[in-house]
Amino acid sequence: MSRASREVASPRVVNIEDLRQLAKRRLPKAVFDYVDGGAEDESTLRENCRAFCDFTFRPRQAVKFPDYNLRTTVLGMEISFPAFLAPVGYSRLMHPGGEVVAAAAAGAAGTGYTLSTISGHKLENVRAATKGPAWFQLYLVGGRGSSEATIERARNAGFNALVVTVDTPIAGMRERDFRNGMIICRMSLSIPAGSFLFCATAECRGLRTS
Ligand SMILES: Cc1cc2nc3c(=O)[nH]c(=O)nc-3n(C[C@H](O)[C@H](O)[C@H](O)COP(=O)(O)O)c2cc1C
Repeated sequence: MSRASREVASPRVVNIEDLRQLAKRRLPKAVFDYVDGGAEDESTLRENCRAFCDFTFRPRQAVKFPDYNLRTTVLGMEISFPAFLAPVGYSRLMHPGGEVVAAAAAGAAGTGYTLSTISGHKLENVRAATKGPAWFQLYLVGGRGSSEATIERARNAGFNALVVTVDTPIAGMRERDFRNGMIICRMSLSIPAGSFLFCATAECRGLRTS
């Protein structure tokens, strides 16, 4: 393989769209739609995808780059290429290994992982799964005391940074989830706005076990 070629795992998975199609075939519809879908008419989702097309590589030939590599630092932590895994709640819906295997994969690739508040695995186990940077994402649920206790626990487990998500004062109307019976419900009125929990209703197609 020449230096210019990309390494691919298999001819079936050459790019992200191939992965998406594979996931669509393998996952229950409700789970695939949760990952793949956005809120309302999904116009923000489409715009986010389109925005990647604004970036192009400018080819440069006959120039000397003796030491090129993609290494960089973020918050003082070194990563092998400029991408870092963002928090994805309910990762365990997609794979039993969920957050643990995602963190391990990030570490093996030389980059970092952000663990969602809504994790299916204990945060200590996720931290232990990677030697790379690991950040903890916090939703401000359950009041100040609960948040402080969670932050302390994440710190003791060895997380390197805290990511506070503030853009979810109310959950968006995710129409695919609603149609699939995956509804987001408030945990309790005593919990600040923005606290939410996915409930798979009895009608949730694809998740039903009986
Ligand atoms: C399925 C899914 C679950 C997500 N879960 C969380 C979460 O638990 N906490 C959070 O702060 N952001 C969450 N996000 C937001 C992502 O971390 C990220 O900020 C967002 O998708 C924008 O990045 P992107 O353009 O690369 O998708 C989630 C996004 C998706 C698609």
